[in-house]
Formats: sequence, structure tokens, C-alpha cells
Amino acid sequence: METASHTVSPELAERYRSIRHATEEITLPLQVEDYGVQPFEWVSPPKWHLAHTTWFFETLILLPYLRGYRRYDPHYHFLFNSYYEGLGAHARQDRRGTYSRPTVEEVRRYRHLVDIALEEFLATEDGRTHAVADLVELGLHHEQQHQELLLTDIKSILHQNPCRPAYRIDAVEKADWSPAADDAGGWLEMEGGVREIGWTGEGFAFDNEKPRHAVLLRDFRIARSPVPNYRWLAFMEDGGYERPELWTSDGWECVKREGWRAPLYWEPGQGRRGDWREFTFGGMAAVDPDAPVRHISWYEADAFARWAGARLPTEAEWETACAADAAGLPGRGRVWEWTASAYLPYPGYRPLPGAASEYNGKFMCNRMVLRGGSSATPEGHARPGYRNFFAADARWQFTGLRLARDP
Ligand SMILES: [Fe+2]
Repeated sequence: METASHTVSPELAERYRSIRHATEEITLPLQVEDYGVQPFEWVSPPKWHLAHTTWFFETLILLPYLRGYRRYDPHYHFLFNSYYEGLGAHARQDRRGTYSRPTVEEVRRYRHLVDIALEEFLATEDGRTHAVADLVELGLHHEQQHQELLLTDIKSILHQNPCRPAYRIDAVEKADWSPAADDAGGWLEMEGGVREIGWTGEGFAFDNEKPRHAVLLRDFRIARSPVPNYRWLAFMEDGGYERPELWTSDGWECVKREGWRAPLYWEPGQGRRGDWREFTFGGMAAVDPDAPVRHISWYEADAFARWAGARLPTEAEWETACAADAAGLPGRGRVWEWTASAYLPYPGYRPLPGAASEYNGKFMCNRMVLRGGSSATPEGHARPGYRNFFAADARWQFTGLRLARDP
């Protein structure tokens, strides 16, 4: 894969250990019964995440590069390959929750033994090549993506339980942030022209962030902060979910079919009208009016923007606004922000070589780009050029929006 022309970092093994450990830590508050549950096709059981991220290192690094390495268990290749068709048959995504074996303990042992093999390999001559270092780097960024998915999937798993158990009773989930100084509202005025977006050449980037290329932008305005819950409540009270003129055709069909009346995880309270509660990692809590709205689909973000007399920013506008300020866009990193951009290859896009070619490129159809990051994104994982992507009806990620306007 093409990353910065770095030398093989002596810290790589240390980062490997620390990032793998961080994944384990996310699962610590779980009970063993939580590990195998799959409430929806798109949610993976925590046990599967633990095994799949391990399979990734085993399959992309140990098998091809460590002479004499044999798979820990040949069945795991079928069970824990997610979607790499070039690597052979794999279990169906919607069946991941039906496998009671391997047990959590066996998966932990798998992780442990692959970690030992990989760390020993990184200390050898063959393990210190750029090819291996690039794949370890990819595997670590993959692991961090799964750390966020673990959290969003755990939230879904606990929420579908009528007991609404808390992930951690002391979890804050940043839902109770008080508005920061940079959330004073208002708009950033951006001048149009030929601008460049994409990987700047510094540090790691996925193939979908490359190559850097020119885009033509008109003058635009972009909101200084993501849309807060009190604005979303106003949209709801103004009949936002009942007015077809605000919605795209697909969005309106989806709202009717799913019966959406509020963001995912919101429930009407027992008190006065507008008294909503939401499921958080700490259990049910009052909706904080000042926190950014979360768990909305692209369809809802788009309808809200229309209701507000605005629109969603394109990803090029978003990245340009972010780059215009050394500190980036205010409020960035609180929620993933839906953009108006379909997830498509940049001009000149080339997928990674080999098995990793399936990592990003084959999803460039029927997905929308999100920018920013969320409270569940591991520290240092996201960057201004990072292109997250989900289907327009996805709501279980920490997704919100920021408005844009023509001048
Ligand atoms: Fe994966």
C-alpha cells in the first residue's frame, strides 16, 4: 500500500500492543452473555469484532510473510473473514450472531497467540520490511475502525434489551457537554475558487483519501457548529417527520416504512410534551438540548437541512473549511457529519494492491460520505481528509450534521 515514505518505525510494535489492548479494554464492561448478540444484520457481536481484527493481521501479514506460519484454526478463516471475496468463502454477515463457538475465551486465546506471533515477527529481519510495516499500519487503522464499531454495536445490543442496561454506569458519552465557546453558532464565510482536497502526503491515509486533487467551489457558508438537539426538537415539533415536501423520495419511503419520529435511541418521556429521553452508554438520560444531535440517517439530515432553509455541505466544502483554520472546523470530532457527497472514487483513485484492494473501493456505490469524527472515534484516528461512509438509512453510528448555505 502507498503510505508516507516512512522508515520502519521502532515504535510500531509498541503501537501495535497499545492499540490491540485498547480494543480489549472496550469490552471490559461487558458480561459474557453480551459478546454473541447480533440484534440486526449490520451489527456484529463483540466476539466477532475481537476475532475478525485478529484474523486481519493473521491473514494479511502472518500467513504471507512469516515463513512456516500455519493458521490458528482453519475454520476461523471462514467465520471471521468479513467481506474479502478474493480470500475465499466467508460466513454470512447476518449469521454472525448464531455461532456460539468459538467461545469468548477461545477468541481471546486466538488474539493472544496471534499477538505473540506478530510481535515476535516484527523483531525479525523479515518483519522489518516496508511491506510489512505498511500492512501493520493498515491493520492498526482497521483495528481502530473496529473499536468505534464495537462501541456503536455494543450500544445497539444493549438498547435492544428491554432492560436498557448501561454499558458503564459512569459513562458520560459526551451527551452532557456544555456548549463550548466555539459553539456560539453563526456561519463561517468561505470564498470559492479552485481548491485542493485529499491526502496531503503527511502520515497515514486510506486509499480512498487519495490522490490529492483540485476541486472548483463557489462561495459558501458553513455553520460554526453541528446542529444541536434543541434545533432538532424544533424540527420535530414543526412536523418535520410528517411533511413529505422536506424529504427525498427514498427518504420519505424510509420514514413511512420505519415509522421514524425522532432520532434513533430517543424515547418520549412521561412528562410535558417535548420531554425526550435517549439511550446512552450510561443508560437512559434526558436529551441534552445543547449537545449535537446524534443517530440520525442521511435522509433525516437532508430533510432537516431543507427545513432549515439550508443544505448539507459537500465533502469538498467541508474539508476546505476545515483546512482554512489551523484548529479545524469548530465542533469537529463530536459527531460524524453527513455531507451531500456520494461516496465515489477521487479522480485517479487506485485501490491498495492485493487482498486489501477490497478494503474501500468496492463500497463506492450507494453510500454517502461523512466527515469529522465522534466521541467513539479513537484519539488520533480521524483526520480532516478522512472519508467515512454509510448507507443513507444508517442511524446506529454517532451521526449528526452541520449545515451549509449558498451566500
Ligand atoms: Fe473489518
